[in-house]
Amino acid sequence: MTTSVSGFSKLNKSEKIDWILNHYFPNHKPEYRGILEQYWNTDNQLQQLHDEFIENTITNYYLPFGVAPNFLINNQVYTIPMAIEESSVVAAASKAAKFWFDRGGFKAEVLSTTKIGQVHFMYKGNLKKLQTYFEAIKPKLIEDCKPITKNMENRGGGILDIVLVDQTEHLANYYQLHATFDTLDAMGANFINSCLEQFSKTFKHGALAYNAFTSAEANIDIVMSILSNYVPECLVRAEVSCPVEDLKNGNIEGEAFANKFIQAVKIAEIEPYRAVTHNKGIMNGIDAVVLATGNDFRAIEAGVHAYASKNGRYSSLTHASVEHGIFKFWIEIPLALGTVGGLTGLHPLVKLALEMLNTPSAKELMKIVAVAGLAQNFGALRSLTTTGIQQGHMKMHLMNILNQFNANADEKRILAAQFKATTVSHSAVVEALENLRLHRE
Ligand code: MEV
Repeated sequence: MTTSVSGFSKLNKSEKIDWILNHYFPNHKPEYRGILEQYWNTDNQLQQLHDEFIENTITNYYLPFGVAPNFLINNQVYTIPMAIEESSVVAAASKAAKFWFDRGGFKAEVLSTTKIGQVHFMYKGNLKKLQTYFEAIKPKLIEDCKPITKNMENRGGGILDIVLVDQTEHLANYYQLHATFDTLDAMGANFINSCLEQFSKTFKHGALAYNAFTSAEANIDIVMSILSNYVPECLVRAEVSCPVEDLKNGNIEGEAFANKFIQAVKIAEIEPYRAVTHNKGIMNGIDAVVLATGNDFRAIEAGVHAYASKNGRYSSLTHASVEHGIFKFWIEIPLALGTVGGLTGLHPLVKLALEMLNTPSAKELMKIVAVAGLAQNFGALRSLTTTGIQQGHMKMHLMNILNQFNANADEKRILAAQFKATTVSHSAVVEALENLRLHRE
């Protein structure tokens, strides 16, 4: 197809599906219509809710929603909801949670909660004059936002500060209004962006009326106003610790386990190729909880990876040490999360997930999510430095392979038992299934 389609968004859902089927599946229309329709919800109201989340919805895309129990965090027990498709993630989280449950659990604390937004603008003129103008207009920037900030301020949040930043060293004529916010339990994207757009209007109009500016100076050119997903001042720390001997793992002594584990973390600290995979494993846990609780995992991903590069070289988000016989493993990570607004009040599963976590504040959710990331990384490193990752991974993957070959319940039961004792590989499972079917014919 080389032509574009116009007016697609104006078609109703059934017309959109017809268009897709006609263009892409003309020879399989009933079959492909069936695939799309089988994911529709029978509850029309719930389906309509999903239809209206985005434009051009034609069906729903399901992810498994699982739970990892036994997370002891600051002496409180949580069952953590996780939305993820990757086979071994929930199993690994649950295993790590149980391991640390018996060793004092996780400790977590929020270090800071400041969020950031910027108005990016171009100014051709004298810097001193711009600085003087900024100081004069700053109270009005805040005042004009009152209709937006009033409720947030009543609850204890709002605009923290606005500073003028000179970026002309990097890009000619480029300056910023760099603003900081406390958005309490809201992720705050809408709040911050609304404030920023108001700042830009007040700032631009004020310049036109500012007597000290020449006409070229008064003509401030606003490029854009947008929050930043880089939130190095919205930080949470989670950690686990125990005496080294308590790390004894099967026939591996605690000290040997700790040494190898710490080496694995050090490698991720200094080697970016490894650090990316190491951090990907952390994000397996983090994204799954972020998604289950209705937060924006793309924002979290972007902010976390930028933070992992904050010293100019991409590095591990977790760290480990042994001091005076105590093993310590911790993560420090920026997480701008919300527990009110957005999907949190709209999506029935998100509401359930948050209630299961005792309706946490944003700060509490930051701790839970950081712990999920730390636990996931502990699970991955424990496997990698002992048995290797494939043993556990392929055991979980077994069901995926069996489903791919339409194994029935009986076949699944027999082969799950058979592969308890043998190594799972794609070819071994296919061969075993074929053998089973041959002998049952
Ligand atoms: C797989 O999704 C995640 C791991 O690769 C993480 C890691 O290597 O640390 C197992």
